[in-house]
Amino acid sequence: MVEGYSFGEHIMSVHVISDAVFYIHTDIHTTELFEGIWPIPYGVSLNTYVVKGEKIALIDLVRDWVDAPKQLEKAFASLGIGFDAVDYLILNHLEPDHTGWLKKFRERNPRVEIISTLKGINLVKSFFKIDTGLRAVKDGETLDLGKGKMLTFVETPNIHWPETMVTWEAASGTLFSCDAFGSFGVLGSKGFDDEFTEEEHAFFEKESLRYYANIVSSFSGFVERGIKKLAGLEIKCVAPSHGMVWRKKPHTIIERYLRYASYAKGPGEKEITLIWGSMYGNTKQGLDAVIRGIEQEEVPYSIHRVPDEDVSYILQDAYKNSGLVLAMPTYEYAMFPPMAWVLDIFRRKHITGKTVLRIGSWGWVGGAKKDYEQAIEGLKWNNLESLEWAGVPSEEDLAALEARGRDLARIIKEQV
Ligand code: FEO
Repeated sequence: MVEGYSFGEHIMSVHVISDAVFYIHTDIHTTELFEGIWPIPYGVSLNTYVVKGEKIALIDLVRDWVDAPKQLEKAFASLGIGFDAVDYLILNHLEPDHTGWLKKFRERNPRVEIISTLKGINLVKSFFKIDTGLRAVKDGETLDLGKGKMLTFVETPNIHWPETMVTWEAASGTLFSCDAFGSFGVLGSKGFDDEFTEEEHAFFEKESLRYYANIVSSFSGFVERGIKKLAGLEIKCVAPSHGMVWRKKPHTIIERYLRYASYAKGPGEKEITLIWGSMYGNTKQGLDAVIRGIEQEEVPYSIHRVPDEDVSYILQDAYKNSGLVLAMPTYEYAMFPPMAWVLDIFRRKHITGKTVLRIGSWGWVGGAKKDYEQAIEGLKWNNLESLEWAGVPSEEDLAALEARGRDLARIIKEQV
């Protein structure tokens, strides 16, 4: 468990961003995996926003997940409106965590006009078989809600699907950014950056990195281009559809996302991620020797054991850190299977530019080497010479492993 953070009550809250902009977060506590793959032990919030002019717009929706629609309905009641009061439903992104309840919402409000990019509208048709009351907007198009409330739509493709856009409300300077600038973790009774303690911010920083590494990292080039494109907007408040809203220091999360995006090009922070698996402890002995070497050079490191630890957390550290140690035995003439799964995820997520040391023991014959070399093809890693040994590592093996740990640590320290 992460220290310094408690879930608080299972509370849905409505928060006021301005006289006309309201923020609703539905907190999802579940043992289900996010996207069917990523654990969310601290939950996730699905945020939606109501903008009131003469017309009312709802920005992003929820999935029918746990009690999200019920939480949304309660929030609307506290705003003194029903779903039928909404004139426009703006869908920045069509992934089902933000749209899964669309068909039911449309049944509750048949007159609502659904607004998205052209690609988004096509997904509304294919996912939900809705063909009427749809409006595709172009990059830069505006929507006047009356009473001085104007929305501007900006296409930001692949943050995180190709149809994605963001919406900006000029009077309050609020950027509704959907997945961009988001995080895992429920919010409880709080909502804004200035309401969370330092410890809670540390928690959310970790969970925003894990969210980024798991969900967004493959699209880091698009993140950089998207942020550049938004530079012309006066952003006073960043309002994503997962995690806290940034009204006091909106540029903190934008700069953080730029830093996260930079890790995709490698090498990353001057730290080392050690990932290991061991059948009978022989590889573990080798790993301990490498750790002694790293500690002599005082380079920070984190350790993850496979298959015990979920790849979501391993990915978070491996994405961020410039050094990697992969310690695994040979298993049936190939890599230890849980490590093969981790490397497959690294390949899919383009974990590139790392400096890597692979070590491991074998019993009768080797085989991990060939399998490993095939698995990392194309990852553009700087590979130190691997160290393998038969059975239990000898004193000479341990000395060599310790020295290799030192070598790796020195390279990481000296990296520019
Ligand atoms: Fe939160 Fe890509 O959906």
